[in-house]
Amino acid sequence: MNPKIPLKTPLPLYKSAPTVEPIQNARQIYIETYGCQMNVSDSELMAGILTRSGHEVVSQLEDANVILLNTCAIRENAETKVINRLKHLSYLKRKQPDLIVGVCGCMAQHLRKKLIEAAPYVDLVMGPDAYRNLPMAINAVTSADPFLGLKLDKDEDYADIAPIRKDGVRAWLTIQRGCDKMCTFCIVPFVRGRERSIPLSVLVDDVKRLVDEGFKEVVLLGQTVNSYHGEKHDFGELLFAVSEVQGIKRVRFTSPHPSDATDSMIEAMATCDKVCKQIHLPLQSGSTKVLKAMRRTYTAEEYRELVWKMRDRIPNLIVSTDVIVGFCGETEADFMETYNLMAEVRYDSAFMFKYSSREGTLAYKSLEDDVSEVEKIQRLQAIIELQGRISYEINQELIGDTVEVLVEGESRKDVAKYQGKTDGFKTAVFPKADSEIGQFVCVKVNKATSHTLIGEIVA
Ligand code: SAH
Ligand code: F3S
Repeated sequence: MNPKIPLKTPLPLYKSAPTVEPIQNARQIYIETYGCQMNVSDSELMAGILTRSGHEVVSQLEDANVILLNTCAIRENAETKVINRLKHLSYLKRKQPDLIVGVCGCMAQHLRKKLIEAAPYVDLVMGPDAYRNLPMAINAVTSADPFLGLKLDKDEDYADIAPIRKDGVRAWLTIQRGCDKMCTFCIVPFVRGRERSIPLSVLVDDVKRLVDEGFKEVVLLGQTVNSYHGEKHDFGELLFAVSEVQGIKRVRFTSPHPSDATDSMIEAMATCDKVCKQIHLPLQSGSTKVLKAMRRTYTAEEYRELVWKMRDRIPNLIVSTDVIVGFCGETEADFMETYNLMAEVRYDSAFMFKYSSREGTLAYKSLEDDVSEVEKIQRLQAIIELQGRISYEINQELIGDTVEVLVEGESRKDVAKYQGKTDGFKTAVFPKADSEIGQFVCVKVNKATSHTLIGEIVA
């Protein structure tokens, strides 16, 4: 992500009165983002913090004298990617000795000092709760020891800071930080700390500001977004409150936890027109035994019942999921339960992963990573193939239908076409005709792949 400046309309960079002394030595900073949407949102927050202190956030790496990598630790390959990137940046640093390289985010928090051993040329290592100190840390960098900002702070919610977002039609709004769930496979609670919610009144003001900036759609973000409890309001209430903001056209959220899918959430989804009829509901496994070992706090049967309950209440609900194969102790029979549940639910789409053991997690400490790499790959391929077929069949059924699409930008493959998302978060591609970015258009679907609807604008 390249936080792009300037904004469409100049924004006050402070939600409250500035308390920061302008810095003497302004730097040009390039932020490179890895991982999930939460990291994209955090990079926007970092851009807000750095800009308000007088630094400049640039969109081209060549223009920078500070490079910050905002990293992910969720699976091993996410960390390997960053280590490789750092090796490349070490060459740059040799050519440009005053270049500052910082590692921020989940991998910084996860590896801590080990990161310095792997990449001794790194100047800053800053975890997700230390971003307020970034301007100071950049100025404090010396050629001696790297600056470490690794304290987790259960009270840090950055609620007073205005992020700087790229222009666009969809804004990602963090409503909650951290996670209290402690799934045994997951590093997030260890690198992002305890769950904390941003007050509802702050979020409603944020959405008003997003409308003023020209955004049409807001995606509420949290690790277990529906366990939100800001100012004693629950997630259903937040959905209602945000939907009432004039000018916001669509509201969606990611990712909810099945155990926190309350009736209040389901009612808000069913009755608020602006709340998209779409849910990303991580399953992880279709075997109750494996779910228990994962500490997911629901059984396969409870998950299944939740999906059907939601489908009954919200007709044409679009459902997607996350699945992990090859978790500790997963037998072929357990895996088949996942396969069969996916075949039964028929998700619109799914993110599918091989289990990757993460140092520091409960599974790493107490369970054996005993499914062979070959079996993990075979199981992953089997569900990818299944899901590809299901997504294709579901999308084929949309041929001939007209769907409402929010125009987002040019299609990556064809400059004569625009692309955008449906209410269900499916990508649609269509000739531009007279449409404009930010407009809602009706697209008749003529063709479909497992990922994309291809059509044309109709009156
Ligand atoms: N609560 C967050 C989870 C973030 S991690 C959310 O729902 O978005 C995103 C996904 O990565 C998880 O749902 C899980 O499917 C996968 N994942 C997490 N830890 C993993 C691990 N150790 N190995 C493989 N996949 C993992
Ligand atoms: Fe991770 Fe489970 Fe929380 S997947 S982010 S510990 S809900």
